[in-house]
Amino acid sequence: MAESTQSPAGRRFSYQAVPGASGAAGHDRSYLNDVIFGTGIADQTILDIGCYLGFFCLEALRRGAAGATGIEPDLECVRRANEIAAANGQAPEYIAGDFESWDWGGRRFDVVLCLNILHHMFDPVHALRRIMRLARSKVVLEFAAPRPRDLLRTRINPLALLAGSLPAILLGAPKRTEDVAAQSFLFTAKAMEVLFNKHTTAFEPVTITKSPFKGRLVLEARRRRIGHLVVVTGPTASGKSTLIKRIAGDPACCGRLGLEDGPWLLTDAHVKNLPRGRVDRAIMHYDLLRPYRRSIKAYDRDPATDLFGEAEALSVVTLMVAPDRLRDQLRTSELTGRRGQRRKRQADIHERYAERDFLRSWYEAWFALVARHAPRLRNNAIVVRRGAADDILPAQCWREVYEGLLGNT
Ligand SMILES: C[S@@+](CC[C@H](N)C(=O)[O-])C[C@H]1O[C@@H](n2cnc3c(N)ncnc32)[C@H](O)[C@@H]1O
Repeated sequence: MAESTQSPAGRRFSYQAVPGASGAAGHDRSYLNDVIFGTGIADQTILDIGCYLGFFCLEALRRGAAGATGIEPDLECVRRANEIAAANGQAPEYIAGDFESWDWGGRRFDVVLCLNILHHMFDPVHALRRIMRLARSKVVLEFAAPRPRDLLRTRINPLALLAGSLPAILLGAPKRTEDVAAQSFLFTAKAMEVLFNKHTTAFEPVTITKSPFKGRLVLEARRRRIGHLVVVTGPTASGKSTLIKRIAGDPACCGRLGLEDGPWLLTDAHVKNLPRGRVDRAIMHYDLLRPYRRSIKAYDRDPATDLFGEAEALSVVTLMVAPDRLRDQLRTSELTGRRGQRRKRQADIHERYAERDFLRSWYEAWFALVARHAPRLRNNAIVVRRGAADDILPAQCWREVYEGLLGNT
């Protein structure tokens, strides 16, 4: 077994080998270089959470990174990491601190690493969400999954775990309080997939592979990249699909809405058909009532709206239709032929459309969300359906338009 890197004070650092450091090496971590640096790191910034002796920070700088930051609560590690960096003539930024409570202000990093640390955290799901927000381009995790022997202590069927189909987070039960940050939370691969690809739409489908190290798993999550995203929204039965067809097939319609010609990739709020890699132009079909009476409750909590932040330019087209017309539309198209829960939901919405103020609060919340995307907002239009023709107006007019539509009913 490899010897550990030794500090002048005598502590042995056996977790991580750093070439060129005095003394011999701990574990060689270079098997992760491809997944971390394979997409390029030159001129980018990297954050390594729980950086230990700083192997990945030094490797990033050696490969031309614009900056490398490591955060590590173990003060002796930080001291030794600084000594090693100085001996190498490199200058990473090492922060002596706890990632879970560190205030990053508005700082972000192109690549964020979190290797073999989640099971040392008190609130790893919160930490994962912070990591997702901090990463401009990519996250790499190496994490401990529960093994069948961990599950034997629970009532969970280990066969489901072996089949890899169980989205489980296992909480260890340490005997002593000083051990709470060891092997505390363990995640199955499926649980990680749910967190990165179901709780948000900001990342491409993750890849999870087996690590040669301690049976760990390695996750790579790349942020989605969209050139121009057009969100077509409106209440249930307002004619979104028809409008999207026109935008996608009629350059004149694009022109009237201030959009460039296609081709447009069409997607919905589940974004299942969005490919990996950059997409130049996409149109999302988004039901304004998607959070209504669903567990997400609000636009901010809807995973689909995370995609808005991944677009370089965002355009929003919001349909406004008189409630009576929406009711007619729902009666004729949506209620016929539907079954079960969906039919019940449509019937409920049909009833609610009879209330004067039902849609007002949804529009209010919707336009507030859109306003928070102001820096990337290219167009923000409303399409008003009164008679046979549509009027296109700036979104600021929505309140007057809403009152007008109520007057018409
Ligand atoms: C098992 S070592 C992994 C070191 C390194 N990431 C690697 O994979 O080679 C875990 C490291 O995470 C650090 N750590 C534990 N909790 C942390 C936290 N809340 N914030 C930042 N680092 C933490 C520990 O001090 C330790 O250095």
